[in-house]
Amino acid sequence: MCGPETGGLPDTDEYVLDTPTVRSFVAAVRKIISPARSPEEAVEELRPVFSELLANDQWLPEEYRSPVPESGMGGGIGQWLLFRSAERDLSLFALVVPPGAATPVHDHLAWGLVGLYRGEQEESVYDAGADAGEGQELSVRLRRTVEQGDFYPLLPPRDDVHRVRTTSSETSVSIHLLANDTGCIWRHSYDPETGTISPFRSGYANRPCAPDDGR
Ligand SMILES: [Fe+2]
Repeated sequence: MCGPETGGLPDTDEYVLDTPTVRSFVAAVRKIISPARSPEEAVEELRPVFSELLANDQWLPEEYRSPVPESGMGGGIGQWLLFRSAERDLSLFALVVPPGAATPVHDHLAWGLVGLYRGEQEESVYDAGADAGEGQELSVRLRRTVEQGDFYPLLPPRDDVHRVRTTSSETSVSIHLLANDTGCIWRHSYDPETGTISPFRSGYANRPCAPDDGR
């Protein structure tokens, strides 16, 4: 079903990758999230099912592991939507980053989990968001290597601003589970040297977003 309130896009759950694995993962996630009293509790309780998804090398087709030359992230980075909820309060997507490419410094504006499915990345977490002011240089709070099977939580506002770069010779693929429709919301990219904050919508390589009705 489509409606004007969604810009003509479906207002039901979208299983872009409609497989038993994705359906049972989403069902398990919803069962866990529903009684959780906080994002911190939700991400903690989700660890086993998310870990299991990362360890399963059968479920993600090759097309969702491919770079995208003209992408919203730049650098050939592909953001492939796999699932999003009717309420746009849950999404599952793959982020494909070619060797040597890096995302802009960016936020997500929702809690979630990010894990490595293929390759290796370096993640730099910045002090930004609620505590930082526009025009202030951003400092790196944490820099870490994320290997296949590793994952970490996003918990705004403190743990929400980062950049990832592929450090493996193979393209990296990370799996994202977030509590919003991350590719379609207006969020922010940051210039870490000047602190300049810019509106940013990454989009998805394989699904449209509703027309922008204001930022
Ligand atoms: Fe990110």
